[in-house]
Amino acid sequence: MAAIGIDYGTSNSEVVYFDGQQHHFIKLDPSIDASNKIRSSVFVYYKDELPLPHASAIEAKVSQIQRAISAQIDKAKESYYDAQDPREERVFGDKIDDLRAEFHNRPALQRRAIQMLLKYMTVQDLSLHQLVETGEFAFGEDGFKRYLKTPEKGRLIYSPKNFLGANLVAGQQSAFIGMIAKQLEFFRLSAEKQLQKKVDTAVIGRPVKFHGTRGEEGNSQAIDIMRKAAEKAGFTTVEFLEEPIAAAYKIERKLSKPTNVLVVDIGGGTTDVCCIKLSPEKLTNLNRQQDALSVTGARLGGMECDKNLIIKSIAPTMGQDLRMQGGLPVPPTYFSDMCAVDDIPKLNHFFSDDYGLEIAQTMSIVKEPKLLNRLLIVQEEKLSARLVNSSRLAKELLSSKNEITLPLHYIEPDYDVDLTIDDLNRSMLPWLSRVKRLVSECLEKSSEPPELLFITGGMSLSPIVRQQLQEVMLPDLPVIEGDAFNSVCEGLAIQAAKL
Ligand SMILES: Nc1ncnc2c1ncn2[C@@H]1O[C@H](COP(=O)(O)OP(=O)(O)OP(=O)(O)O)[C@@H](O)[C@H]1O
Ligand SMILES: [Mg+2]
Repeated sequence: MAAIGIDYGTSNSEVVYFDGQQHHFIKLDPSIDASNKIRSSVFVYYKDELPLPHASAIEAKVSQIQRAISAQIDKAKESYYDAQDPREERVFGDKIDDLRAEFHNRPALQRRAIQMLLKYMTVQDLSLHQLVETGEFAFGEDGFKRYLKTPEKGRLIYSPKNFLGANLVAGQQSAFIGMIAKQLEFFRLSAEKQLQKKVDTAVIGRPVKFHGTRGEEGNSQAIDIMRKAAEKAGFTTVEFLEEPIAAAYKIERKLSKPTNVLVVDIGGGTTDVCCIKLSPEKLTNLNRQQDALSVTGARLGGMECDKNLIIKSIAPTMGQDLRMQGGLPVPPTYFSDMCAVDDIPKLNHFFSDDYGLEIAQTMSIVKEPKLLNRLLIVQEEKLSARLVNSSRLAKELLSSKNEITLPLHYIEPDYDVDLTIDDLNRSMLPWLSRVKRLVSECLEKSSEPPELLFITGGMSLSPIVRQQLQEVMLPDLPVIEGDAFNSVCEGLAIQAAKL
């Protein structure tokens, strides 16, 4: 039996096995050969027909049809009593009998109800729970490509992890358990195949605070969903470890003497910070909570930068600053709602017909409706996730280039947006000052100062992030270099090997 580390990230996930000496990275995405991580988004879809409508919807439709038949019976009865001769009486009498038979023939009524419901049903009408129960799953690049090619065939959950701390109703909770169980099962089976041994134990990373506004209640809901999903996925032993502490365990193997290290993990969904006492002598100790001097975390990840870049630099090309008649600006909420890929109710509201109608009405009272038409296309064609993904790519490219042209041709032919490093940096400043505040908070809570700084997570590849943390905020703290993407999961695997 083997125990693995699972970094279930907001943007990317990873699975690592540690054999006591070496880390073994499990290949998770068959469509990217060289990669040991996989996009965390999931596309749940239907190859052919949509599933049968829900029983309660069928029953409601049957009742509606029956009400229509009753009205026809009442009308036929009136005609029967008004009949002028026995022949006419017989005709209406027969009609009443036929209608009554129709009224009571439940199988036929149900078939008719299903036909009527299917005629107008789209994937968007299905609840998340129904979708997870009846749809097919595509993970990683395969899922994202399917979504790009046939968005109408399914629904893309851009970052399931982002929803775990949110206010979920009962059906949604079980939908997320089902969805994540499929992902974790896929991870477990991939590991078993590549390691050639049974895998029954996992140490799963957790952010200090899950994405959401519900504090401790949200955190325990998130852990509960992850634990149930892991059990459903076939794991018999599951433990959770805070992500920055996991990254610290990886760093510990590089140290030659006891050292206090400040770990800053800036991922796609959250920033997690810890100050921890590390020591090569403690490598094999199982429980290290007493060594964590302080831990802080917040919903401050790269996705927020992607959205901020849209609001600051892309939305102005979609009509954000236009004035309506009377001089008022176009409602700015149009653009924040457009980006709400991590807020199901908000995004559903943005995709509703009424919302589209409102944008169309606003278009009729602005000078340059052509710009707002781009927003309308994102609304009508449900392109929010695709736009946020484009913005993410732009942000990543601007880590190594001073300017880029971002093609948004899926919104309008020849629609390109020029973006510079200054645009990106400006859009990131408020976010960066919140990240710095979180780091300060961790330092203030720690009873001992750090001696080394380790910055990890995908956002640590952003030059402005490194510059602000290393040069501006902590210029006297020596930096230990490490991997931006693998450290958390390697640390989780180290912990798993101790179980
Ligand atoms: N070269 C790059 N420059 C800037 N940002 C990058 C770069 N590469 C990746 N990122 C960003 O890093 C983030 C993903 O980081 P990471 O894979 O560590 O997150 P995660 O572990 O999935 O999320 P979390 O830990 O918050 O749940 C994304 O926002 C991504 O755009
Ligand atoms: Mg992470």
